Parts: sequence; C-alpha cells; structure tokens
Amino acid sequence: MPIYDLTVIGTGPGGYVCAIRAAQLGLKVAVVEKDKTFGGTCLNVGCIPSKALLHASHLFEEACHDFAGMGIKVSSPKLDLPAMMKFKDEGVAGNVNGVAFLLKKNKIDAFIGRGKIVAPGKIEVTGADGKTQTIETRNIVIATGSDVARLKGIKIDEKRIVSSTGALSLEAAPRKLLVVGAGVIGLELGSVWRRLGSEVTVVEFLDRILPGMDAEVARQFQRILGKQGITFKLSSKVMAIDSSGKILKASVEPAAGGAAETIEADVALIAIGRVPYTDGLGLDALGVKTERGRVVTDAHFKSNVDGIYAIGDVIAGPMLAHKAEDEGIAVAEIIAGQASHVNYDAIPNVIYTFPEVASVGKTEEELKAAGVAYTTGKFPFTANGRAKVNRTTDGFVKILADAKTDRVLGVHIIGADAGTMITEATIAMEFGGAAEDIARTCHPHPTLSEAVKEAALAVAKRAIHM
Ligand code: FAD
Ligand code: NAI
Repeated sequence: MPIYDLTVIGTGPGGYVCAIRAAQLGLKVAVVEKDKTFGGTCLNVGCIPSKALLHASHLFEEACHDFAGMGIKVSSPKLDLPAMMKFKDEGVAGNVNGVAFLLKKNKIDAFIGRGKIVAPGKIEVTGADGKTQTIETRNIVIATGSDVARLKGIKIDEKRIVSSTGALSLEAAPRKLLVVGAGVIGLELGSVWRRLGSEVTVVEFLDRILPGMDAEVARQFQRILGKQGITFKLSSKVMAIDSSGKILKASVEPAAGGAAETIEADVALIAIGRVPYTDGLGLDALGVKTERGRVVTDAHFKSNVDGIYAIGDVIAGPMLAHKAEDEGIAVAEIIAGQASHVNYDAIPNVIYTFPEVASVGKTEEELKAAGVAYTTGKFPFTANGRAKVNRTTDGFVKILADAKTDRVLGVHIIGADAGTMITEATIAMEFGGAAEDIARTCHPHPTLSEAVKEAALAVAKRAIHM
C-alpha cells in the first residue's frame, strides 16, 4: 500500500472537498468513510434531503392555496407522501453518487470502514465485516462532523421521538407534531410537516426563536410562522416525554421553573442542536486536545499533534456545510504548502423556509454590545415591484454599515429567495465594500434583489421607492 500524503477521515462536505482540492494540488490522497455512502450528514440526512422536502412541500402548499389566485385551476391537490419521499431519496442518491464519481475522477482512494488514528501517520480502518486495514499517511485531516444533541432521559427511537433524521422519513404526516427547539432544524422541518398537514407546536427554552440571528428579523419571522399556523411556546422546557401510550405526553415547564403542563403529540422532534462527533477516533490516547468535544485547532487547522488537522462541524464555528467546505479547501492548500485562510466574518447563514431568512456579518445586537457606531438601511419587500406582482411581500432587507466609513458590517434579509440574495452582500463584505458600493451597483429590474440596492440607498437615507 502506498504512503499517502493526506488521508481525510469523513466524507461530508468538509472531507470530500478537502480530498478533491488536495488531489488537484498533486497530493496522493485517501478518504475513510464509515457509512455506506459518501457525503456525510449534509448529503445523506441534512441539507439535501431537507431542502428536497422543503421544496416539494412548498409547491404542495402553493398548489393548495395560491394557484387559484394566479388563474391556475387544479382539482384539489392530494399528498402522495411515498412519492414525495421517493423524490427526496432520488435527489439524495444523485448527490451522493456524484461525490463517488468526483473521488474516482480525482484518483482518491476510498477506504470504507471506521477510522481510528492509532499513531500520528497511522490510521486503522475497521470494515463492517470486522476486518482491519492500516493506512500510512504523512498528514491526517479529521472531518468527522457532528451528531444529534440528546435530551437527558428522552430516548430517540426515530419513529415517534425523532431527530432530524427520523423527521426526514416519517411514513405519514403526524396529526400533532411537537418540536423541541426553535432553531434552524425545528423551523425548517416544522414548516415541512405543517405544510403537509400536521398541527405543529414548537417549544423553545429561550424567550425568542433562532438565538444568534438578528432579533428584529427573528421577531418578524416568528409572526409570519405564527400566521402560517405554527404555535410557539417560548421560555419553556420539555422535561420528559411519556411514550407508554398511543399518544406521546410531553411534560413542559416554564424555563424559570414552575408548574408543568402536558402537551400531547403523535411525534416529537428533538432539535436542540448538534454535538461534535469523535467517537472511536482514538483522540484521547493520542493526546489530541478537545474543548467541549470539539477538536482544538490553530489558525491553520492544525491540532496540538503534528500531522493531525481538523475541519468542519468537529471544530469551532458555525455548523454549516459551506463553512466546512471552505475549511476543507484551506487546509488542503496549507498542507500542500500554500497560504490559505477562511474569512469567518463573511459566512452566510440561510434558513430555507418560506419566506427564507438569510444573514451575513454582525447583528444589531452584536454591534451594540461591541460599542460600534453603525447606520441602518432598511427596505421592505412591500415596496419592491417584483415582490408585489408575485405577491411575496413578506419581509425586508436590512443593511448595517459603519457610521464613519460606510463599510458593510452585516446584512439581514427575510423574504422569498433571501438565500440567493445574501450572496451579493457576502461578496461585498469579502471585498470590504461599503453600502455606497452596493447602492451604485446596477441591479436587474424587476428582481427581488433591487430591495438589497434600495436598503443600501436607505443607509444614506435616499431610497427611491419608499
Ligand atoms: P459531516 O457532514 O457530518 O460528515 C462527517 C462524515 O464523517 C460522515 O460521513 C461520517 O460517517 C464520517 N465519520 C465520522 N467518524 C468517522 C470515522 N471514525 N471513520 C470514518 N468515517 C467517519 N448546513 C448548511 O450549510 N445548509 C443546510 O441547509 C443545512 N441543512 C441541514 C439540515 C439538517 C437536518 C442537518 C442535520 C444539518 C444541516 N446542515 C446544513 C449542517 C450540515 O449538514 C453540516 O454542517 C455539515 O454536514 C458538516 O460537514 P462535515 O464535513 O464537517 O461533517
Ligand atoms: P440550533 O442550535 O439551531 O437550535 C437549537 C434550539 O434549541 C435553540 O433555539 C436552543 O435555544 C433550543 N434548545 C436547546 N435546549 C433546549 C431544551 N432543552 N428545550 C427547548 N429548547 C432547547 O440547532 P438545530 O436546529 O438542532 O440545528 C443544528 C445545527 O444544524 C445548527 O447548528 C445549524 O447550523 C445546522 N443546520 C443548518 C441548516 C441551514 O443552514 N439551513 C438547517 C438545519 C441545520
């Protein structure tokens, strides 16, 4: 067996992108993957299947409620859930097979089995049949991702008490769905099942949804989701779920303590975050430093042990696929002897509900806490021609710019297609752009993106259409 220049453990968006970039740079590369398919959480049970269901369920809702208003007559649309799940599964298969193709194309050797680092430069891979192989390698990148965070005393069976994985494959829309956690997963998958007919109640520990997002955006988003029919119980915690009967009985207490109430549900989705996954990697024996489960790395993604690097959900920072990918590229370039880095100040964040929520950079709360003087430019979609004619007027664009220099510090969008529009704000920030730069950039008409330009104009109090 050859001695590899680099072996990547895990083939999620961090790992497979890292392997491909390293191969492009002429390194001899191997990957190790414990699951049957490549692509990690994102492609198999995360980004890709959730977006397939969000897309299909949104169209179902439009067909039920909005088509008639546009003059499209359909005789009452019916849900064929097995077909919708097939649509999702075929989308996943197309994506994971695409990764297999890319690995082969780039002449990357794949070892299927669980990887354990037995010494720096040595990985033991145990296959499903129990047979082991040892890989020798000059460098190792740990890209083992994350796993579902669990609630003490509540057992996830992926049938009635589910994580996101089970919620992506329910056999029927539950009559009542209890979602624990008003974070990204709770709101995306809560939206899917509400559209498909479930009565959805979201219980959140904090007094707001989406902690970390701009508070004004989160407030408006909660109002919109409320109008769509999702019920929120904030400042509350689920203490236990009794699954002994046909109906689940969740005991819910005020976060500050007090009398518990019972919420009944057919299915409960536990979506209280994710935790780094390093099971069986052998990190303790090697002395690889971790902090709250995350591998500690320096600015070059190197752990405290020479030749061992880490990227993606298993290290600090937002647990996002594009962040993992960019780190994968950067670490491959660094190992190949180049200079590379990731700009953590310009990592976009998108929630793919309807409307979408997207942000990049600082929130107003963060700027206030840091004592930074800033100006705000805001523009509502009610004043955007394309949104008006499409009847997708919920939401706004908000640009936060440095009061002295006009440099863009943060952009927050709630509205249809916010996830696509945030890219222009991200590019502006990456280039150190000012609100004036966005305002003077010609935007195509009629598009929703004109609201971004108008918000930039509004920073200098000269929006045209308001
Ligand atoms: P992962 O994708 O978790 O991949 C890790 C891989 O390592 C896995 O394949 C695992 O099997 C393998 N592995 C672990 N240990 C070993 C071992 N010892 N030996 C061999 N292999 C091992 N992010 C977004 O940016 N956009 C989204 O829309 C989005 N939607 C999501 C929806 C859901 C429901 C979930 C759960 C997550 C979503 N995420 C989304 C988050 C995204 O999936 C993660 O941030 C991303 O997958 C992290 O990539 P990674 O490469 O670090 O790890
Ligand atoms: P999250 O961190 O986004 O939200 C968890 C929520 O649960 C928080 O609001 C938290 O306050 C709440 N919570 C925690 N403990 C609780 C308790 N005991 N009772 C009630 N509420 C409680 O985590 P989530 O939604 O599970 O997502 C995990 C990760 O996956 C996120 O970090 C996210 O970045 C990633 N993801 C990204 C997506 C995207 O980019 N569109 C989509 C889905 C997931």
